Amino acid sequence: MKFSYKIAKIKKLKSKRKLVCLTGYSKPIAKILDKYCDIILVGDSLATAFYGMKDTKSIKLDTMITHSESVKNCVSKSLVVFDMPFNTYRNNIEAKKNAKRVFKKKYCDAIKLESNGKNFNILKNLVKLGIPVMGHIGFTPQYKGKFKPQGVNSVQQKKLIQEAVKIEKAGAFAIVLECIGSVTAKKITKTIGIPTIGIGSSNVCDGQILVVDDLIGLSGFYPRFVKKYVNLEKILSNVFKKFRSEVIKTKFPKKSNSY
Ligand code: KIV
Repeated sequence: MKFSYKIAKIKKLKSKRKLVCLTGYSKPIAKILDKYCDIILVGDSLATAFYGMKDTKSIKLDTMITHSESVKNCVSKSLVVFDMPFNTYRNNIEAKKNAKRVFKKKYCDAIKLESNGKNFNILKNLVKLGIPVMGHIGFTPQYKGKFKPQGVNSVQQKKLIQEAVKIEKAGAFAIVLECIGSVTAKKITKTIGIPTIGIGSSNVCDGQILVVDDLIGLSGFYPRFVKKYVNLEKILSNVFKKFRSEVIKTKFPKKSNSY
């Protein structure tokens, strides 16, 4: 299957330089991300990070599309990947209908499917239709309950390596490894020919992804694998406090802000 030059470039970068990936849900953030990222993922983490839903399973396809459209419209350099939400790809017919809707309408450049350890054929059939697919293994929030690191014993390790190989064989162009022990993540990265994008899976992966709201300190969710580069919550809190004070003291608006 012949994919776009952006995907060919991402595949070629395996073991040449690390891939830089972040989530993006809106135009203002995506415009900035486009300067620095190889991949912008419109992740279903939109549900929890942006909408405050209880889990990622609650987000609807239409809501994801609204956000992906705004991201795609302002991005030129990065690859925009659309995260297929829960219960939108349970069988070939459902997956084909929903993936075609997002891909053919150009709301993204590629889609991502979480692996449930069985849906390799669904992935393969979407690739056959010309839709580039990114896999996702390890801690897959759509299918796994409570958070737990994955691939931390030899049985789990063997299973995850097999899963990654099957996803590559099905035609995925890259694969997210979520919260997988570093030894297993390294073995997967060495075994398969497509790039591995780690989140909580150490620096042995071919690239890294984080949820942008975690990285900028807006989500209130900071597990061990997240690095908070800036505390935007604190910065914004000071801004809003100042605004409040200026409004109350009639310091804002000034003459220069008025007509
Ligand atoms: O939804 C998301 O943000 C994701 C990343 C954690 C990989 O799937």
